[in-house]
Amino acid sequence: MNWQKSLKSKILDSEPLSSHTTFRIGGPAEFFIRPRDIDDLERLLNSVKIYKMSFRVIGAGSNILISDRGLEGVTVSLNSPYFRNIHFRNNRVEVGAGKPLNQFIDNLKNRGLRGAEFLAGIPGTIGGALAMNAGITWKVTSQESGVRSIADLVETVTVMDYNGKIKNLDKKDIRFDYRSSGLSKYIILRCSLKLKKAKKKIIDKRIKEYLKVRKINQDYSHPSAGCVFKNPRGYSAGRLIDLCGLKGRRIGDAAISLKHANFIINLGNARASDVFKLMGLIRRTVKNKFGINLEPEIKIWK
Ligand code: EPU
Repeated sequence: MNWQKSLKSKILDSEPLSSHTTFRIGGPAEFFIRPRDIDDLERLLNSVKIYKMSFRVIGAGSNILISDRGLEGVTVSLNSPYFRNIHFRNNRVEVGAGKPLNQFIDNLKNRGLRGAEFLAGIPGTIGGALAMNAGITWKVTSQESGVRSIADLVETVTVMDYNGKIKNLDKKDIRFDYRSSGLSKYIILRCSLKLKKAKKKIIDKRIKEYLKVRKINQDYSHPSAGCVFKNPRGYSAGRLIDLCGLKGRRIGDAAISLKHANFIINLGNARASDVFKLMGLIRRTVKNKFGINLEPEIKIWK
């Protein structure tokens, strides 16, 4: 097709998306593209419009379940160096959407900037973390608990709309909520976050503490997409699923983790259809036992 010639970046045909998701599940992308810069992205959007193709941006693929049939149209990954840039200005950092969170946390530590340690161990990119307002549920005592998320640090987010227009959004204009944001109608390009100064040693200690808690509570034994369902207000989805006695239930190679019931793990060759069926079983069982509707946290791309 002609549109492919106008791009600086290479286009991969039928790229297996299982190599781009932490679940290791997903059929082929019709066209898989890593735009080199903003200009390339703009041209791509233009072609997408002209040829009426579907268009999706994939981050680290850590929170999605892609169908076994794969995706039609264009799948974009913003992991070229241009979209992974990072700039520091005193306590502020401007970082590209494609930056992996683990690298970002490390960069902040080396700069002596604290506040984002709670993101350590989340297998995503900055863009993905913003889109779904990634974070943690923390517990100080059994009475005192709360949610910390990337929105707490955000000052502005720079996005491109689907007409190629760039906008700078203030935090107050973005509807950040528990595991959601008002950013899904845009392509997230970069953001500016505000942090605090601290000694590298202290930051390092905090990162290690967060990683330790994650390792104790979560299942890293097999590929997964982290927590599958959102926590219903006042409840833990993991606990509800556990109380239904569903740990260890298996369909094909997809299984409910024995360690954390809100994790579905891929034992080897799990298909998206196995995971869908297991999710259906979980929802029905929890609904029957507790009358609670579990809402997926992971995004389902068909
Ligand atoms: N629990 C069980 N059985 C289980 C799992 C959990 O009884 O199989 C109990 C735990 O013992 C605990 C409570 O449920 O009393 C909550 O569990 P946990 O501390 O593991 O936290 P969570 O609410 O299940 C949330 C986030 C995680 C985040 C952790 C840590 C959601 C849906 N999940 O999990 O995020 O890492 O807190 O702060 O908000 C993710 O988004 O992918 C994710 C894993």
